[in-house]
Amino acid sequence: MRSELVLELEGGRRSTIRIGAGVVDELGSLWQPGWEEAALIGDERVLALHGERVLALLAPLVRRVLRASFPPGEAQKRRETKARLEDELLDAALSRSACVVALGGGVSLDLAGFVAATYLRGVPFLALPSSLLAQVDAAVGGKTAVNTRHGKNLIGAFHQPAAVLIDPELLRTLPAEEWGNGLAEIVKHAAIADAELFAWLEAHADELARPGAIDPHPLRRCVEIKAEVVGADERERGRRAVLNFGHTVGHALESAAAGTPAGAGGHGRAVALGMQVEARLAEELCGFPARERERLLALLARLGLGARPALPFAALLPHLGLDKKRRGASLRCALPRSLGEMEQAAGSYTVEVTREQVERAWERAWPS
Ligand SMILES: NC(=O)c1ccc[n+]([C@@H]2O[C@H](COP(=O)([O-])OP(=O)(O)OC[C@H]3O[C@@H](n4cnc5c(N)ncnc54)[C@H](O)[C@@H]3O)[C@@H](O)[C@H]2O)c1
Ligand SMILES: [Zn+2]
Repeated sequence: MRSELVLELEGGRRSTIRIGAGVVDELGSLWQPGWEEAALIGDERVLALHGERVLALLAPLVRRVLRASFPPGEAQKRRETKARLEDELLDAALSRSACVVALGGGVSLDLAGFVAATYLRGVPFLALPSSLLAQVDAAVGGKTAVNTRHGKNLIGAFHQPAAVLIDPELLRTLPAEEWGNGLAEIVKHAAIADAELFAWLEAHADELARPGAIDPHPLRRCVEIKAEVVGADERERGRRAVLNFGHTVGHALESAAAGTPAGAGGHGRAVALGMQVEARLAEELCGFPARERERLLALLARLGLGARPALPFAALLPHLGLDKKRRGASLRCALPRSLGEMEQAAGSYTVEVTREQVERAWERAWPS
């Protein structure tokens, strides 16, 4: 079964999102007449697995196709890699009539999307997400970015893909250890906006925990939730902040762990840990019921996301200060007041928290 959703944006712009097994093969039906050249951009691992298929689809649509890749991994999501990709496009004299086709996980989409946002002052791009995390989250919303030593996603642009093709068949080759990263964002979407989806996840947790294949229902719901929030607030002036549940602490963990041998185990796993801490904050500050916090923890645990962080709280401190949601001197978090509903007060979707409150929540998230 396939479904389609059109994200309506300011200025009459639209982004088409198609979901279903085999939708990658429908690339041609979304191709636009003015796109005379194409640049397929993705990490080497994903291009080796799925690149030939996409190149074969592109060949009859355009005058020429350029293939540009980089080694897999979050560490590649940086300005130097972007510059190298841009040089490849410039060396090939790729023109303004080119469309960038981004194939891969969130790293490939964020990088290739950012290249598209600034190449010759901006060319269109299509997103073909191939990781579970990218299919339920990174591919929708138009945020593109690279990391710097000061933190994650600090340099970037809003640039909406003209179309997104979400094909769960691509997930069959995804390494099993990446599965949990996507599951965490699925749980987040349910926790912030859809109590019914949350109950569905509880009822299907055992099958969801098995990597490789997924029922399209949660994919569709996550995309609808994100599209709805982004459609209402494309540039994160307010409501879009609800998508950051688990991310204030999660991003700090990711940055702090970046220099350690084990790392944070990926973006989603860091967010799962972040949600556990922020759920404690929600309980203390927003009346998030203890019973619902326990349900959240139990679901994460059944999905293999209940582990404790390997780092002490002190390691997070420098990274908490740099969070982009920080306004003035205070740290702000997007917190649920119940499963499926986020706290909102005085027109703000984030809640001010002190460093002491975060520390206490951290300590109480995993009582020893
Ligand atoms: N722009 C956004 O709104 C947004 C939202 C969430 C996350 N992100 C970003 O996404 C990134 C994380 O994304 P990710 O978890 O997809 O990481 P990723 O892109 O590094 O992919 C994870 C690993 O899986 C491999 N892979 C991906 N698809 C595969 C497939 N089908 N078969 C085999 N291997 C495959 C990749 O090569 C990589 O090694 C982070 O940088 C995060 O900041 C962005
Ligand atoms: Zn995320």
